[in-house]
Amino acid sequence: MFFKSYLPKQYLAAAIVASLLQGVVTAAPVFAEPAAKSKTTSVQTDMAEQNTIDHSAESKPIQNEFLKEGEGIPGTEVPYQNERKLTLKEWGEISRLERDIRRLQRKREEFFIKRAKEKEAKEKAFANAFKGRQEYSIVFNPEDYTTKTMDANGESVTFRAYEHLVYVKKPYDPESQMLSIYIPEAYLKGGTVNGFTAETAPIFMPNGVGGYMPGTIAEPQEDSRYGGANAALYALSNGYVVVSPAIRGRSLKHKNGYETGKAPALIVDYKAAVRFVRFNRKAGRIPAGDTEKIISSGTSAGGALSALLGATGNAKDYEPYLKEIGAAKERDDIFASMAYCPVTNLENADMAYEWMFHNANAYYNAGPARRMPPANSNAAPEGNVQNRPANAPAEAVKATPITPEQKAISAELKEKFTEYLNGLNLRDSLGNRLNLVPDGNGLFREYIESLYLEAAQNAIDTGEDISKTPWLTFSEKTATHMDFDKYIAAVKRLKGVPAFDAFDMTTGENNEFGTFDIANKHFTRYALEHSKFVKVPKLEEEKKIAEEKARQYNLAFPVEKRKLRKANLEEQMEKEKLDLSQFMADGRIIKMMNPMRYIGTRNVQTAPHWRIRHGALDRDTALAIPAMLAVKLKNSGKKVDFKVAWGYGHAGDYDLPDLFAWTDRICKIKDKADAILKEEQMKAKAKAEAKEKE
Ligand code: DHB
Repeated sequence: MFFKSYLPKQYLAAAIVASLLQGVVTAAPVFAEPAAKSKTTSVQTDMAEQNTIDHSAESKPIQNEFLKEGEGIPGTEVPYQNERKLTLKEWGEISRLERDIRRLQRKREEFFIKRAKEKEAKEKAFANAFKGRQEYSIVFNPEDYTTKTMDANGESVTFRAYEHLVYVKKPYDPESQMLSIYIPEAYLKGGTVNGFTAETAPIFMPNGVGGYMPGTIAEPQEDSRYGGANAALYALSNGYVVVSPAIRGRSLKHKNGYETGKAPALIVDYKAAVRFVRFNRKAGRIPAGDTEKIISSGTSAGGALSALLGATGNAKDYEPYLKEIGAAKERDDIFASMAYCPVTNLENADMAYEWMFHNANAYYNAGPARRMPPANSNAAPEGNVQNRPANAPAEAVKATPITPEQKAISAELKEKFTEYLNGLNLRDSLGNRLNLVPDGNGLFREYIESLYLEAAQNAIDTGEDISKTPWLTFSEKTATHMDFDKYIAAVKRLKGVPAFDAFDMTTGENNEFGTFDIANKHFTRYALEHSKFVKVPKLEEEKKIAEEKARQYNLAFPVEKRKLRKANLEEQMEKEKLDLSQFMADGRIIKMMNPMRYIGTRNVQTAPHWRIRHGALDRDTALAIPAMLAVKLKNSGKKVDFKVAWGYGHAGDYDLPDLFAWTDRICKIKDKADAILKEEQMKAKAKAEAKEKE
């Protein structure tokens, strides 16, 4: 045992884990020392009776007792070499100091246990407040439907609508945890649509989330934003079974005062909806649809959600949350994920934004509060200069200048992006590393530029006149070069500094990372260290101090070592009085919101097919964000159709014919491959049986 625990293990473990997640203790130096050796051994033996300290416990490589197992501070493993024998007085002092240290350690443990208990009590109160919540059956009733007929771009589509079915047994907000299923009528009469049958029809699962707000059921509509049938109706007319779930979002507050829609609620709900469909379709209750061809789709925060669903199939992290709401016990991996302008990878989005937009001197986000408009409005907010989706932050007509302080922050974030990006080890199709050098240039930048250029070229090739685009250079009918600064000047920077994790916690994302009892939180260490609400030491400085302390400790004589250790512990405990979890989201939840953290990891079934679009004029998040997602997916063997869409800003569903041509293709290839495999298996079986008969 490194230090003896006098208290229940589970509390201690929880408390230490909690403190580690806060990031406060990780920089603490190591003040344990290896066992006294050689010359001192005799002294130690002589003193054995007086000195009850078990030095053998300290003979391990030095490790911060507060750090994760195995994380020692380099260079501190040198064996302790004593120059002279210790006096009796010194041994006495050591003994007293060791006793003090043990007392402090016990106090620290108790402190953490108390905090853990307080936390537990709060969670219990929350659970109790919802104990009596209504329970629902998740067994689908095939008899309960209405038949509807709609006009899909001139084609009459008749479908059955099974509406407003709560998809979990114990919802926190039934209105937000129900779904509707729409099935082309033809399948219920044994017919085919677009080459699909009731057995092979793909299941299209769009989500209506925007701005991390609650998402409503995406019902089939004849007149969509871009004219004609919306995605749900378009899908039905093409023979897809449509499942549209409502999903909890950040603004949900129960009448008992608790927040019920904070992260990771949205992804937990989307997964639960997938499980509901599998559970009921496999049992034959849902009369059509192939659960091995589930396709998700969404725009912006909804695109982020779709990507998250695609990336995290069956990941264990979500299991307790799914269990909590009574989701069906089923798989939640999907076949294909589609995302328009996904506002994702939030923990790294500020850095990516500054990497792209650093040179802008003003931004156009409406108002300093940067709160998103209310959920129940489809209208463009007042003063909006672009046709923006509901719940996206409003765009102001007037620019807000970026201050010198903000510029300095931007420079720091920009620099940090390079570090993050390079750590991803992304490669292009030729195997070249898509890296950046410290000034922000490199192959990754060239890749980003090539995406814009490719979009421009597509526009040219389809007959569009884009020759007046101020940030492009042409040679004949080829877009050959883009000027990044001119691009930024033309599209205008939308968001302030930082774009997502604001120091005053006023963005939608801060609101998304709140918890059941706290509305807004930080989700990056950087913003936490710059927070308006709390003073937190900079991790890098802490680390330097810790290393210096460790160095001094190594040089110190035995008595001094104990003194240093005691002083450090006292200092540490003082710092720990501040509970950072009040201000900072839990690291596990931050992870659960980021598809990048799951792609290519063990025991996770990431969707094999991806379609990602980002408008050439989009500034809600940096193009680097979907680009990193697309490349990471490709690098881990997934099929990815990733393009920048010319002429579009922050929007989705603008190219439904292309989108459904793509889904048709991947579904039909799968069906064909499955059929071939089935035939081969049957042949092999027949052969084996024939052999047996011989
Ligand atoms: C959305 C837009 C944003 O700019 C953002 O930060 C989060 C979400 C959206 O449109 O969903």
